[in-house]
Amino acid sequence: MAETLGGERLMDAVATASKADLTKLEKQLLGEIEKAGNLATLEDLRVGTLGKSGSVTALLKTLGKLPADERRETGQAINALKGRVSEALEARKDVLQDEALARRLETERADITLPVYPGPQAEGRIHPLSQVWDEITAIFADLGFAVAEGPDIETDDYNFTKLNIPQEHPARQEHDTFYMKEKADGSRLVLRTHTSPVQIRTMLSQKPPIRIVAPGRVYRSDSDQTHTPMFHQIEALVIDEDTHMGHLKWLISEFCKAFFELDELRVRLRISHFPFTEPSMEVDIGAEAIGKPGEWLEIGGSGMVHPNVIRACNLDPDRYQGFAFGFGIDRMAMLKYGIPDLRAFFGADLRWLKHYGFLPFDVPTLAGGLSS
Ligand code: DAH
Repeated sequence: MAETLGGERLMDAVATASKADLTKLEKQLLGEIEKAGNLATLEDLRVGTLGKSGSVTALLKTLGKLPADERRETGQAINALKGRVSEALEARKDVLQDEALARRLETERADITLPVYPGPQAEGRIHPLSQVWDEITAIFADLGFAVAEGPDIETDDYNFTKLNIPQEHPARQEHDTFYMKEKADGSRLVLRTHTSPVQIRTMLSQKPPIRIVAPGRVYRSDSDQTHTPMFHQIEALVIDEDTHMGHLKWLISEFCKAFFELDELRVRLRISHFPFTEPSMEVDIGAEAIGKPGEWLEIGGSGMVHPNVIRACNLDPDRYQGFAFGFGIDRMAMLKYGIPDLRAFFGADLRWLKHYGFLPFDVPTLAGGLSS
């Protein structure tokens, strides 16, 4: 591109350095600049004239070869030409930029009265289960509990035996366990049927005082409107030297009030049986929590940790005692948010999620509100 600008005329001008030729050249260059239809063409012209190997630059470089007496006058003439070309380039650039802006304003007009498109952040939803999981852990964190975890694939020993459910104990049948293939030594792993084995893992790895909650997935071979083969529980465990049932009832009551966001809520501990607690109690809450006063709702099991369990974790049951409870997270989500069918939790139906889900930035905190 650069070589052709001004073409032969340029070379003539250099050869003769005549004023007339410079004038002609200037006219031609200014004409081309004036005709440049867009900024890219104009930039090519600039490079082709004033650039490092541009035509006007080349012209200046020839000055050295001229006889000294001509050099001054020709130099002035070329420099003057250079100045005018440069000015013309600038002026044309301004015009083209203005034109380009005007075109954009014309075509890219934005209607600022249109409603704002909220974007993907507002489209996405937090699953009610994740929301409730976070709500529950936020409440227990506030009460001084740490969060503990265990694997979904658990040893038979931790899922049953150390929880005072020996082989052949009838409670094993009630758990509808998914068993893994038996290993060569006769032992076998299971999909954990409850979060209670996290009690064992915690007591084996920590010294009392212990205050943990363990939310997680659990598995049972069972399926209908209120049962799915995988569901969620949250386990709580408190172990020290003088924790008693009064603490248990207070904690459950405080937790339920915080969770259901009520100032008053009735809590009833109903005598029951679990192998890993003694005594054992079913936990019921007043159904006023979901607008049905007069009825009771069962939300989980609880009890004082059985001495056999404490002993199985190498702690002295004469010194250490405490309580545990396990609630169904799915069930608590269904109760709190009025969700009728558990199976829909795992249906991945976006319409359902849109209806029951939560906005991603509504992170549950006690200060900011759990479900606001
Ligand atoms: N693990 C029991 C279940 O899944 C629930 C349970 C009952 C947990 C009593 C506890 C407890 O910690 O103390 O059926």
